[in-house]
Amino acid sequence: MTRKPAGIDAIAFHGPRCYLDMSDLAQARDVDPDKYRLGLGQTQMAVATPCEDTVTMATVAAHRALDRFGIDPGEIGTLIVGTETGVDHSKPVAVYVHEMLGLAQNCRTFETKHACYGAMAGLTSALDWIAAGRARGRKALVIASDIARYGIKTAGEPTQGAGAVAMIVGADPRLVELDSDTFGDYTRQVMDFWRPLYSKYAFADGHYSIECYLAAFTGAWRDACEQAGSWDRLRLEALDACFYHVPFVKMARKAHLRHCETEWGEAITRADADMAARVRTSYDAQVAPWLELNSVVGNIYTGSLFLAMADYLRKLTPEREGRRLSLFSYGSGCGAAFGTGVVSGGATASRNLVDPAVHLDSRVRLDIDRYEQLIRACETADHNEEPYPDPADWGLDKGLYYVGTRDHVRQYTGSPAETL
Ligand code: HMG
Repeated sequence: MTRKPAGIDAIAFHGPRCYLDMSDLAQARDVDPDKYRLGLGQTQMAVATPCEDTVTMATVAAHRALDRFGIDPGEIGTLIVGTETGVDHSKPVAVYVHEMLGLAQNCRTFETKHACYGAMAGLTSALDWIAAGRARGRKALVIASDIARYGIKTAGEPTQGAGAVAMIVGADPRLVELDSDTFGDYTRQVMDFWRPLYSKYAFADGHYSIECYLAAFTGAWRDACEQAGSWDRLRLEALDACFYHVPFVKMARKAHLRHCETEWGEAITRADADMAARVRTSYDAQVAPWLELNSVVGNIYTGSLFLAMADYLRKLTPEREGRRLSLFSYGSGCGAAFGTGVVSGGATASRNLVDPAVHLDSRVRLDIDRYEQLIRACETADHNEEPYPDPADWGLDKGLYYVGTRDHVRQYTGSPAETL
């Protein structure tokens, strides 16, 4: 029996209302702005207020995906939220989202965690659920939602961000068909980045984390080649675009260099001008054009890879339909996966539905004092005591917001439909 292809039928992004311009951060930290702009590749980073959390961002992104793509919430049979910034040690973010979207009670609902790899783990589980015949015509909603925070004046500060990407996964997808049989995996216990239960902030051994990321690429890519049987579908020549986990834009450049080196079987240095030019040409065509959203949102952990894919999809042109894409997910700690998919026929018709331009254009620029005040306010926003966070204090108008924890229960106000 030939299986119908399964993959991404709808996708939408939602992030916080405020952002910090990297030039303001550079000036405040007495750093050359080019270090952030060119060295890391970032121009802005999204900053969540105390009233925007993983739940509100996930719910709004999911509502947007359902609404724009005309999908009835009753069609959702699995809801998975991949996050490393959950709001409870026990209760999953997904169950709040389930209620706020009004999903059916026979929808299985859970949270996945493995740093930035959490949503990819959710996506592959959703594909397995469909392949196993458990979907019975329904779709899966997979959401990546996170707030990346290292703290004020840390090395990781310019690599923060926040946001959620919601994907609806089903048979006969309108956007991208995913080839499960090309997915390869990699796991290794490393202390490159972690966040102990007692800390609001992540700890990172930054330069080591880059090494771990690149080693994981090689491991996952090699496993993908073995899984796929032949590497015809994986080779760079067969790919129209390569999406990587993007903690900061420059990391995608490093990942692509490793991708070329792994496939071509040699280390490439600047001294080798011909090979370096080949990598640059490939990067400019297959990676760089799709990093615009990442450069203004920053690291959104689980969603970063899919944000790059959303950038590609919003710029889609008909001749790209049918072309192959690669996806590499890396989660510190560490876990990774590499696989491929194909742009669905007719996907271009949906490109405007994917575009988050209206939301991003409505964002408010923070000055550095306000940014630091906001970060400090977030440290106590989930305490079970007054003062409760008030959306109006942060310039937030209509929308879905977190408004404090009373009697140890998180409180929310508003609706996802009202959020810009
Ligand atoms: P740093 O030490 O502040 O920066 O840390 P640096 O000195 O390495 O400089 C960064 C780049 O800017 C370098 O480029 C410099 O040359 C360049 P590179 O050599 O790498 O190509 N530079 C300049 N360029 C132009 N003009 C200038 C200038 N000055 C310097 N004037 C680091 C940077 C990313 C390590 C730090 O911000 C950090 O620790 N971030 C957090 C950890 C992280 O993002 N790791 C990425 C890999 S792990 C991962 O992706 C998983 C993660 O998302 C978590 C999860 O899975 O949940 C993080």
